[in-house]
Amino acid sequence: MKYRTLGRTGLRVSVIGLGTMVHAGHFGPMKDSESLSAIDAALELGVNFIDTSDAYGAGYSESLLGKALRGRRDKVILATKGGNVMAGPNRGKRNFAPDYIDGVLHESLERLQTDYVDLYQLHNPTVDVIEHGEVWGVLERRKQEGKIRHYGVSINTMEEGIAAVKTGRSDTIQVEYNLLTQEAAEKIFPLAQEANVGIIARVPLRRGVLTGKMTQADESRFQGEDVRARSFKGEAFAKELAKAEQLRFLVHGPAKTLGQAAIAFCIAHPAVSVTIAGARNDKQMRENAAAGDVTIPNEDLARVADLWRRGFAA
Ligand SMILES: NC(=O)c1ccc[n+]([C@@H]2O[C@H](COP(=O)([O-])OP(=O)(O)OC[C@H]3O[C@@H](n4cnc5c(N)ncnc54)[C@H](OP(=O)(O)O)[C@@H]3O)[C@@H](O)[C@H]2O)c1
Repeated sequence: MKYRTLGRTGLRVSVIGLGTMVHAGHFGPMKDSESLSAIDAALELGVNFIDTSDAYGAGYSESLLGKALRGRRDKVILATKGGNVMAGPNRGKRNFAPDYIDGVLHESLERLQTDYVDLYQLHNPTVDVIEHGEVWGVLERRKQEGKIRHYGVSINTMEEGIAAVKTGRSDTIQVEYNLLTQEAAEKIFPLAQEANVGIIARVPLRRGVLTGKMTQADESRFQGEDVRARSFKGEAFAKELAKAEQLRFLVHGPAKTLGQAAIAFCIAHPAVSVTIAGARNDKQMRENAAAGDVTIPNEDLARVADLWRRGFAA
């Protein structure tokens, strides 16, 4: 496994991390035994960065992780998030009020069975919260107490990322970055590199589309609470699948699967310290971890850049 420094946090993170949203059942039903096998494989393979949130299964993913890491907490750089209300009358809303975040941070620590998290991320805050939120004061206080080692943001829009770098409070930015979603490389990464803000690239497999294993027939599988139920439908899904097909040329040499090429693409950018594919079991974790050793040839990167510039037009 290769390791990089996560911006100014100074943390040495494995280029391949583990995202644990899938373990809370957001990608269809999960067995704890499978989630635990993914976590065990991650540690065995030198993966030391694990990302979660209090929102994943309303604390379920954190609780599972807490159990899984008992006795080996020190082997892992643990990142969680808060700000998405997952229970009670405000379920589905976002709340970055200082008292609220302080409360949910302490609940996360309890579920994770730890005295500290290495990284606490505001989970999709608005530009206004990033620029003017009082929540930063609470995060700094908890950092001084040792309950948080570093803090940052997980963002949805380029404006949020730009604000996060400019205001200078966020040590890290977690952002979607993959072969089909490359805006951040242009709009955020150069600014982040200059300010030494660490980048965590999320959704590297575009929720499975970039594994190359999906077909249009899969849309009927994605139902109810599955995060793919809304977006992986009809024409929009067909377009994503067609783009993934255009990227199959990346599968050669050490890149044995499109998924490995997709993960290797994320870490090919020097601004990215770690990418956090969700792995539902040890088999997926092993395949994803091996992508840490895959280097995409420059001519392939140039072809990808060209496809992106042309909007994947034929
Ligand atoms: N706003 C935010 O802060 C935010 C939003 C989204 C995600 N995240 C973070 O980013 C992480 C990753 O994002 P994600 O899980 O949404 O998307 P992703 O990593 O692009 O895709 C994960 C899915 O791809 C499939 N997969 C993974 N490895 C595979 C392999 N080797 N072979 C075949 N299929 C494989 C699995 O689904 P199946 O087995 O069902 O096909 C898995 O659930 C999350 O866990 C979370 O930590 C944060």
